[in-house]
Amino acid sequence: MSEVNRVWRLRKRPAGEISDDVLSFEEESLPEPGEGEFLFRLNYLSLDPTNRIWMSDVAQYMPPVALHAHMRGVVCGTVVRSHHPDFAEGAIVSGVGVWADYQIGTPQAVSLMGDTGPFPVVDNFSTFAIVGPTAYFGLLDIGKPKAGETVVVSAAAGGVGSIAGQIAKIKGCRVVGITGSDEKCAWVRDELGFDAAINYRTEDVPSALAAACPAGIDLYFDNVGGEILDVCLKRMNLYGRIVSCGLISQLNATEPVPGPYNYPMIVMQRLRVEGFIILDFLHRYPEAIAALGQWIAEGKIQVRTQIVDGLENALQSLKKLYTGANTGKLIIRVEDV
Ligand SMILES: NC(=O)c1ccc[n+]([C@@H]2O[C@H](COP(=O)([O-])OP(=O)(O)OC[C@H]3O[C@@H](n4cnc5c(N)ncnc54)[C@H](OP(=O)(O)O)[C@@H]3O)[C@@H](O)[C@H]2O)c1
Repeated sequence: MSEVNRVWRLRKRPAGEISDDVLSFEEESLPEPGEGEFLFRLNYLSLDPTNRIWMSDVAQYMPPVALHAHMRGVVCGTVVRSHHPDFAEGAIVSGVGVWADYQIGTPQAVSLMGDTGPFPVVDNFSTFAIVGPTAYFGLLDIGKPKAGETVVVSAAAGGVGSIAGQIAKIKGCRVVGITGSDEKCAWVRDELGFDAAINYRTEDVPSALAAACPAGIDLYFDNVGGEILDVCLKRMNLYGRIVSCGLISQLNATEPVPGPYNYPMIVMQRLRVEGFIILDFLHRYPEAIAALGQWIAEGKIQVRTQIVDGLENALQSLKKLYTGANTGKLIIRVEDV
């Protein structure tokens, strides 16, 4: 076991796009677990749009990361020293931790991964830690799709969007994806089975959406906010639902983002717009993992993980999420398990 711990610390709050001086990569000595705690070594780090929110001192669903503290992240690791009877050396854990090779774990922050069944730990972590359950509960519990309805998903080739769209297909919906490149459009349409895909960078989104949704939109799974939300609002059907999952198009904004200009549609079309945070569904994870696991085993859902090696590459890799340079779920691999 190394005696040096490589860690990322938050040195500055981002203004606009994440810059290189927001985090610093440093070497420290290993922390010592106290009573009821354990030390674990990082195997995989999830990179998530919400990392940008955690860096910022804005209203959010968790406290922001304190300046100069270790950067927060969703992690998967292996216990190497333990003062807790339930977390033996060698156990695999996942949950909320920090961007560091070694870190202290508690049962409040991380849990045992347990038997991963037919899935290697890396697949289990990349699909089931965040994006799969977010797509599952967001679409089914909040969106309540019905067979025959038209569902639109933005950031459709990302971790959450690609799975949400496939669940909507399983539920018998017409599914239209909006994403940022022709390759991503081809992937969701030709391989994942979406009925249509729109490249919002090259196409006129209002007219492309009108063509792809001739019967209007019943359910919009919103991963991006901003202009795409506005365009979708305009085409919502009576009693439609908007699942507010995320706002990635607005996270790097330096000024308040105006709109949505089509807000009156919420009244006119009697829409339900509901946000959610996946942490509120932690107690129901087994349900999502069982359903998603079965659909993956049956070939009804395909998942893609984009792996970048090396904790030192975490900051540069995180930026991919805001430029669309990732397809599927983006993770850092420190050491396979
Ligand atoms: N509510 C919750 O509990 C919860 C949990 C997890 C994630 N989320 C949210 O779900 C969304 C997707 O998360 P994810 O982890 O699956 O990330 P992701 O979709 O794998 O990656 C982000 C994608 O967003 C797209 N994007 C970036 N900037 C954009 C812009 N200005 N306009 C439109 N699209 C843009 C990019 O794809 P393109 O190439 O298509 O532009 C990028 O690949 C995020 O908003 C995230 O915050 C919410």
